[in-house]
Amino acid sequence: MHKHCLVTGGSGFIGQHLLAVLTRKGYSVTLLMRQPQALSALRLQINQLGGDGELLAAVTGDLARADLGLDAAAREQIRDVAVVFHLGAQFAWGLSAGQARQVNVEGALAVAELAAQQGSRLLMVGGYMLANHGHLQRVGIDLANPLNTDWDRLYRRTGGYEGSKLEAHFRVVAAMRELNAELTVVHPATVCGHSQSGHILPAQPLAGLIENLSGGRLSAIPGSTAHWLPLVTVDFLAALMVAAAFDVHQAGQEILALDAHTPNLQGMLQLLAQALRVPAPSRHVSIGLLRTLLKVPGVPRLLRTDAESLDFIQTTRFDTAATEAFVQRHQLTWPDIGQALQATAGYLASAPSAAVKQG
Ligand SMILES: NC(=O)c1ccc[n+]([C@@H]2O[C@H](COP(=O)([O-])OP(=O)(O)OC[C@H]3O[C@@H](n4cnc5c(N)ncnc54)[C@H](OP(=O)(O)O)[C@@H]3O)[C@@H](O)[C@H]2O)c1
Repeated sequence: MHKHCLVTGGSGFIGQHLLAVLTRKGYSVTLLMRQPQALSALRLQINQLGGDGELLAAVTGDLARADLGLDAAAREQIRDVAVVFHLGAQFAWGLSAGQARQVNVEGALAVAELAAQQGSRLLMVGGYMLANHGHLQRVGIDLANPLNTDWDRLYRRTGGYEGSKLEAHFRVVAAMRELNAELTVVHPATVCGHSQSGHILPAQPLAGLIENLSGGRLSAIPGSTAHWLPLVTVDFLAALMVAAAFDVHQAGQEILALDAHTPNLQGMLQLLAQALRVPAPSRHVSIGLLRTLLKVPGVPRLLRTDAESLDFIQTTRFDTAATEAFVQRHQLTWPDIGQALQATAGYLASAPSAAVKQG
């Protein structure tokens, strides 16, 4: 078995936990990094997360540059990798279509081409909205022939980040099919902190929601009692990605990484409020009204919320039967999502860098 992998986005939140799992299992990993000088600090962080930082190396690269900015020596260093894990992305609200496309679409296509040229499996991270077919149709994806989608129109509806994730997915799937190369896609729900330690990075969407709750800016529950924000813990997601990447049955497959036991938004806010020792909101506010409010200049900054984030709060329930079968086959265990939410709130409340106050 090849023991060497390439990871893009390894310094990010999911990336760090993926590196911890891979190195704990003895894989050596080369990271594509914009700032390889950050490798020594990352090694220490991976040790703290229970991995082995000594098994990490880096090549200088950038998803926004032609040929990923890799020189000949870097290409040689990664020539033998068994799996390319592609996690690198511009992950933010308010991106222009141009910015988002350059990194998230063109960068993903370049990574796919690299994996195909080398004969490596590509494990790409998508997002769970790709499993919500009603949503895909509503935003204008032509499900019978996704490449016929009017992407400019779609970006105007979804915003840069989500538009680019959708476009990247369909274009990479088509490219890998054309190149006759191996692709596995994992679609994570919104990522929750580590199920035990609660570790999360402050820029994560869930951390933003917790910060708003602790800062008293979430006085009403968005949506109805049917609305939820599906979650997956970062440690479970990382374990699932590694299991999928080396499973021969998962070549050409897509897996939804979503914990069906995630409580509705009201229950989730109650659990978080309890951990933060602040009052939980009890009134509901309609998503439509919130969307209108967020169009008023200054309101997104005041509420520290962006309209783009509202798409992820929904009433859709997902079919997780294939995920459950995969989880059982690999003997993975879902952590308790309620405890993980409370651990995440606790972590943010006690982390010196995170601006979360307890009541
Ligand atoms: N977190 C979630 O809730 C969630 C849910 C569903 C899907 N996803 C997907 O999961 C993936 C990872 O998400 P995350 O939460 O771990 O994101 P993150 O913490 O924001 O990390 C993003 C990573 O991408 C790298 N990156 C950004 N621009 C780059 C460029 N031009 N060239 C090379 N690397 C670049 C960053 O490296 P630097 O250190 O150089 O900045 C960082 O390592 C993304 O594809 C995201 O869309 C995330």
